[in-house]
Amino acid sequence: MDRSNQTCPLVGFVLLGLSAHPRLEKTFFVLILSMYLVTLLGNGVLILVTTLDSCLHKPMYFFLRNLSFLDICYTASSIPLILDSFLTPRKTVSYSACFGQMFLSFAMGATECVLLGMMAFDRHVAICSPLRYPMVMSKAAYVPMAASSWAAGITNSVVQTSQAVRLPFCGDNVINHFTCEILAILKLTCADISINIISMAVANVIFLGVPVLFIFFSYVFIIATILRIPSAEGRKKAFSTCSAHLTVVVIFYGTILFMYGKPKSKDSLGADKQDLADKRTSLFYGVVTPMLNRIIYSLRNKDVKAAVRDLLHEKHLTE
Ligand SMILES: *[C@@H]1O[C@H](CO)[C@@H](O)[C@H](O)[C@H]1NC(C)=O
Repeated sequence: MDRSNQTCPLVGFVLLGLSAHPRLEKTFFVLILSMYLVTLLGNGVLILVTTLDSCLHKPMYFFLRNLSFLDICYTASSIPLILDSFLTPRKTVSYSACFGQMFLSFAMGATECVLLGMMAFDRHVAICSPLRYPMVMSKAAYVPMAASSWAAGITNSVVQTSQAVRLPFCGDNVINHFTCEILAILKLTCADISINIISMAVANVIFLGVPVLFIFFSYVFIIATILRIPSAEGRKKAFSTCSAHLTVVVIFYGTILFMYGKPKSKDSLGADKQDLADKRTSLFYGVVTPMLNRIIYSLRNKDVKAAVRDLLHEKHLTE
């Protein structure tokens, strides 16, 4: 396993993107650029509103603001590169830029997984133990909870990226993807990647499996508690405070499990179709999910809607 004496002349990677489908490129460019702008605007408004409106100074909105901030960072780490790959056929990306981008995307993705788990805990306490909620979810609890999500995500990314950086890349440097996505890069190396695969599998268990189980059991308790509420009105009200989170969780984990959860063989039958499907999934995950998150949260939440209205109308209290 001595790879250090293998020297590989490597200028950088070439991003293939959608070069094989030039007609799709323009459509996707416009589509993704508009989605990106909607995402920036939606997340920006949400951060502004949850900061300015004192009614929204609650743990749930603190997490939501953090999630918005995360989505802005996440999209900023990949979408400009994706758009560039549509404009520049066979775009060359330097070795360090590529791994930098991989690091950021991986860190943000893993952070989001943990943060969604933390938010499930917040909803669990709010609904199952409402009397203890102000005590349990105090500022001394939720700020470290968010901070540890970031720390966990970044640590995971350091581990994964540093393993990928050490791989030798000798011949093929064409990434059949829009971004420096880790699976697409692992396919290019001429070394044995079993360690990387194992460490990614472990990371999947920790960052996908554990939060998913945690969220699942939180919601089992939440739903059991909601069903015990005698009035239909009360049930509806309790459920409305967590339906937005639940929808986001389903979309986020649904996409990510679909993308990373299944094992892939290197050259199976119909690899081309598989490729295009993978690309579409990762576009969905990288572009559509952050946009949907915000729209879902904003439209499904009365308080957010009211706060946005207030902000737009600049309520003048004349009395
Ligand atoms: C997100 O959480 C971290 C850690 O608690 C905090 O330092 C940061 O200011 C938060 N970001 C936003 C936009 O609220």
